[in-house]
Amino acid sequence: MKRFDPMLESLYARHVNAQWVRVLELLQMNETYVRCEGAELFTADGRRILDFLSGYCVHNVGHNHPRVVEALKDELDRCGPAMLQSHAPETAGELAGRLCSKAGGRLTNVYFGSSGSEGIETVIKFARAHTGRAGILHAAGSFHGLTCGALSLMGSSFWREGFGPLLPDTAQVSFGDVDALAAHLSSRRFGAFVIEPIQAESGISVPDPRYLEAAQALCRRYGTLFVLDEVQTGMNRTGPFLAAHHFGLEPDMVVLAKALSGGLVPSGAVLLSNEIHDSVYNSLSRAFVHTSTYSENGLAMRAGLATLDVLEDEKLGERAAAVGKYLCRSLRERLSGYEMVREVRGLGLLLGIEFQAPRQFWRRASFDALDRIHSGVFGQMLVMCLFRQEDILTQVCGNNLRVLKVAPPLVVTEGQVEQFIGAICRVVEQMHSSMAFWTEALGLVSRLANV
Ligand SMILES: Cc1ncc(COP(=O)(O)O)c(C=O)c1O
Repeated sequence: MKRFDPMLESLYARHVNAQWVRVLELLQMNETYVRCEGAELFTADGRRILDFLSGYCVHNVGHNHPRVVEALKDELDRCGPAMLQSHAPETAGELAGRLCSKAGGRLTNVYFGSSGSEGIETVIKFARAHTGRAGILHAAGSFHGLTCGALSLMGSSFWREGFGPLLPDTAQVSFGDVDALAAHLSSRRFGAFVIEPIQAESGISVPDPRYLEAAQALCRRYGTLFVLDEVQTGMNRTGPFLAAHHFGLEPDMVVLAKALSGGLVPSGAVLLSNEIHDSVYNSLSRAFVHTSTYSENGLAMRAGLATLDVLEDEKLGERAAAVGKYLCRSLRERLSGYEMVREVRGLGLLLGIEFQAPRQFWRRASFDALDRIHSGVFGQMLVMCLFRQEDILTQVCGNNLRVLKVAPPLVVTEGQVEQFIGAICRVVEQMHSSMAFWTEALGLVSRLANV
């Protein structure tokens, strides 16, 4: 039996976000979750749902990992100092030391915040302070967060509309275009080039490694800081601790968040070089010139330390690399004959399946009809079918609605991987061979039209 509490549901809709509740209802995804463990979510009406989204790469160690939960309980039980704003928390020092030694290169210092967006705001400020240049360059297709500074580094008009004017002195270059990057950087206007080493929300875009190497070299040549946003790709999501390690990069700053605290406490970190740190905090009077109240909070620090222990002890980086390779290869093999599957790509357990318009006549007519109404309907149909028919939770990418994200917790088991492969194959087969998928899609469209 689904536990339905109309009072609570209506309070959420009334006081938090009614549109979100309506979206979930339309997609028939408004479940009540009662327990979440590893890669599994259990609902009030007895369903067991497999999580292949991980809250957009938050749950690398799995939901409610017992060691992270235990660390948080210990922290609460010890009644230690919290938010004194008058001491130097030891756990912050310990976590910073471990993050820097795992990241390597020139990263020796850490600023802790509470989210990925706050990390992006921080790198904008630090780049300006260190270089004396106002300009910040970013790549088309990126997703860096929704606060005003972070939003200024996103090209997509969907996220920006209605919130301007945003930060001046920002510019965008095509992802992967070395010449365009060189042309911009040579103006010497830019303090930082901020880029995701693998763009997640643009559709799991893995660049040519030579592009990132060239980007770093160009940044060095023109005095621009090379900044990696590893909010989704970091914490072993793609195998190594940072995606930067695939490409042998030595960034000046790296932004981490999401999986940093095991998915249980808001947390974020900017890893930076000593030189950048010193140019921001350059006198006693500037010791707290950039900070925030919940920065370095005890629960986030303890959760971060426990998360690193789990990643190391359970060898989740190696696991992400091996399982990701198997999953990617299997999906390529099993989905290769379907005309609507364009490509399966990614690294480690950050994978995407890109779909395309069909050529076959009746499928094309239905696809085009959906696309005309909203470019997102096809992707949401896919997500809905996986959820309703196969008990799999996933989503399409935020800036590319035709790419299905495949990003389970790194603790995902072989059996769960096989379950996902079987499920996606059945849904893809259904969209190619029966009218049911398309009839259902038109049903979704008519529900949308009636809202
Ligand atoms: C790559 C990347 N950077 C930054 C952010 C912003 O992080 P947050 O939502 O924690 O502010 C996100 C969020 O999805 C992200 O995917």
